[in-house]
Amino acid sequence: MITIKSEREIELMRQSGKLTAMVLDMLEEEIRPGMTTKQLDRMAEEFIRDHHGVPSFLNYAPKGDPDVTPYPAALCVSINEEVVHGVPSDRRIVREGDIVSVDCGVYKGGYHGDAARTYVLGSIDEKVQQLVDVTRECLDLGIAQAIEGNRLHDISAAVEGHARSFGFSVIENMVGHGIGSELHEDPPVPNYGRRHTGVTLREGMALAIEPMIALGRSRRAVSRKGGWVAVTEDGKPSAHFEHTVIVRPGQAEVLTLSLRERNVA
Ligand code: MF3
Ligand code: CO
Repeated sequence: MITIKSEREIELMRQSGKLTAMVLDMLEEEIRPGMTTKQLDRMAEEFIRDHHGVPSFLNYAPKGDPDVTPYPAALCVSINEEVVHGVPSDRRIVREGDIVSVDCGVYKGGYHGDAARTYVLGSIDEKVQQLVDVTRECLDLGIAQAIEGNRLHDISAAVEGHARSFGFSVIENMVGHGIGSELHEDPPVPNYGRRHTGVTLREGMALAIEPMIALGRSRRAVSRKGGWVAVTEDGKPSAHFEHTVIVRPGQAEVLTLSLRERNVA
């Protein structure tokens, strides 16, 4: 069931969304080659709690998969060929030349915010930089379709079309989602699909739109049994950006803009 959020609920979601963005802004300043992914996670959790939030991902357990243990961290930190759900570890070091996708969820005031960005560490391969830029553009193009009266897969088709026009592949077995008092609500928001199909979007729907795009040919992110991290099948790099948005007439309201983006908007 897709819920429509009231303006009162949306005001609360603005606050959890803003804190989510602040975490990613803080990490963008702090991340450096040589740090462990666990250090990033600790900084994020402390920041969230200092701001009276709770990490949404910590202890999250997907329904109906007994093989997977509850998620043990505040962040997902996924490096290079890792698509999503990289579990922070004190043995995993981020290095110059890596792309590092950081996904963060914050629960505050009864509602979740969810956002992700792929950070680039130092100088990287030109093609990989293009992957990161295009994935970011895919998110913007998807958000531009999240308006009242459009259909759900208008978002999906916009993401897919842009990625494919560069020869990149869309990860099809991981999707965005509705969001609100639960981290994952209806509807699933795939990153591929046909225009003018899917449910009609209504003002007040809250969506986490999250393109995961890879170099190479992998269309799936695969995990080992019982493990969280999901990687491309061919080992090629993958990028991930995510915003939490509210469907509005004419233009979506983005709840997880970085403070930098807010000031130029
Ligand atoms: N943004 C991702 C999602 O919405 C992160 C979930 S991580 C988990 O699926 F630990 F909560 F599963
Ligand atoms: Co999400």
